[in-house]
Amino acid sequence: MTLGIVAALHEEIADLLAEMAPGARVESIGMRDYHVGKLHGHDCVIVLARIGKVAAAATTTALIHRFDVDEIVFTGLAGGLAHGLSVGDVVIADTLVQHDMDASPLFPRYEIPLLGCATFGTAPALRDALVQAARDWLTDEMAAQVSSTWRDEWQTGTPRVHVGQIASGDRFVSSAQEVDRLRNALPEALAVEMEGAAVAQVCHEYGIPFAVMRTLSDAADDAAHVDFARFLREVASRYSHGILHRFLTAKAA
Ligand code: ADE
Repeated sequence: MTLGIVAALHEEIADLLAEMAPGARVESIGMRDYHVGKLHGHDCVIVLARIGKVAAAATTTALIHRFDVDEIVFTGLAGGLAHGLSVGDVVIADTLVQHDMDASPLFPRYEIPLLGCATFGTAPALRDALVQAARDWLTDEMAAQVSSTWRDEWQTGTPRVHVGQIASGDRFVSSAQEVDRLRNALPEALAVEMEGAAVAQVCHEYGIPFAVMRTLSDAADDAAHVDFARFLREVASRYSHGILHRFLTAKAA
C-alpha cells in the first residue's frame, strides 16, 4: 500500500521531507522531484506539485502512473470562506468543486464538461482518519509545536477541525469583494485554494481514493497575501507534519 503525499509549496511539506530523507530516493519526472521512501513504516511518495490546477493534475497523474500509489492525500493551506472559521482551523474536504469552471451555456456552471459532475467526493475512510488525526494533534501537540506568538494572535482557543466543501481555482483570492462573490456563488464552500479539486478530478477518473486537508492561513480578504506569507513561513509545515504523523501512526496501529 503506497500513499502519495502532495503539496503546492515546499514550506507545506518541509518537515515531512526531512523526516523521510534518510533512506529515501528521489526520482525526477516532468520537472518535479518524487521522494520515495518510508514514513512510520509506510511506503510513501512525497512530491511538491507547485501551485495551480494544472500542476496538481500533472503531479497526480504521475503519482498514479509512475509510482502506482494506492491513495493520495493533499496537504497545505487555504483561505477561509465560511463565516465563523478562523486562521489556524483545519478544513478537511468532503467534496471539492472547481470554482473557475464555467462552460455555460454549453454545460451547467461548475460541471466538468463531458464528465457529467461538478463536485468530487473524498474517500470516507481517509477523510475520517484525517479528521481524527487533526483533532488529536490540535488537542495534544499543537501548543508545543506552534509558537505562542501565533497562538496568542488566534485568541479563539484551540483551533477546530471542519469537514465540508473546498473550492479550488487558478486564482489567489485576496479581496473582500471576491470572497463575497465566492461565498454567494458557492454557499456550501468552507475554504478556497488552488489545487484540491484538480487532484480530485484525476483521482475520480482513475478510481484512486484521495483526501484533501487544508489549514486556514488567511480569510481570502484584502490582507490575504500578507497573512498567507507569514503563516506559510512559520506554521504550515508544523501542521502538515504533525497531522500526517498522527494519521500514519494510527494507520500502523
Ligand atoms: N491558499 C491559501 N490562501 C488562499 C487564498 N486566499 N486563495 C487561494 N488559495 C489560497
